[in-house]
Amino acid sequence: MTNRDIIIEIEDLKKSYPLSGTKKLDVLRGINLNIFKEEICAITGKSGAGKSTLLHILGTLDKPDSGKVLFEGENIFKKREKQLAEFRSSKIGFIFQFHHLLPEFTALENVMIATMIKGKENSKKALDILKEVGLEERADHKPSELSGGEAQRVAIARALVNSPGLILADEPTGNLDSENADSIIRLIFELRNKFKQTFVIVTHNEEFAARCDRIIKMTDGKILE
Ligand SMILES: Nc1ncnc2c1ncn2[C@@H]1O[C@H](COP(=O)(O)OP(=O)(O)O)[C@@H](O)[C@H]1O
Ligand SMILES: [Mg+2]
Repeated sequence: MTNRDIIIEIEDLKKSYPLSGTKKLDVLRGINLNIFKEEICAITGKSGAGKSTLLHILGTLDKPDSGKVLFEGENIFKKREKQLAEFRSSKIGFIFQFHHLLPEFTALENVMIATMIKGKENSKKALDILKEVGLEERADHKPSELSGGEAQRVAIARALVNSPGLILADEPTGNLDSENADSIIRLIFELRNKFKQTFVIVTHNEEFAARCDRIIKMTDGKILE
């Protein structure tokens, strides 16, 4: 492996959920992993392996029981809640299986709403990023007036509009037919090449995983080398 910059270092990360009584379910059982800047890295593994839990912790949507996540060298779970929220909104973009666009708003407005987190809405930035995902002409459409693939493109634009360094995606093509899935995959590679973000993508799509720079396999809360 070449001497690439590390964006995230994960050290002995553990997470369990309480079950009834005194029992607990160990979901992450000591994860050690480095993620490199500008890579597109696939996380694969059976349902229940802990993939989404890992992604949520990387995105600071959930906290580990123990272990560390260093983002550009900084231990993110040492931050206070307010700093953590700032960190999340400026450094991380999320893409989910379902687009989760707000139905009452247009494509442009859905993307613009994400820019308000930085104080003032920025319609120019929102329109620019919609152009990047090839949807300039759909800017005034509401989600119900978009195809599944188009709606997912808007969700990608929303994830990217604040220029986060890290994009976390949980089954981004899971709800799409193969043609739309393929165009989303190509878009993700184009965006990475242009904007130099790092992508961590949970996927069951084998073709997608095979095209990624690296595949990380999870089983039972651990990483298989
Ligand atoms: N909030 C929760 N409370 C209890 N159990 C959970 C919770 N979230 C996930 N789990 C359980 O943890 C395990 C791993 O879940 P998850 O990370 O979603 O797996 P994957 O994304 O690989 O399918 C599953 O068995 C799931 O049922
Ligand atoms: Mg999952």
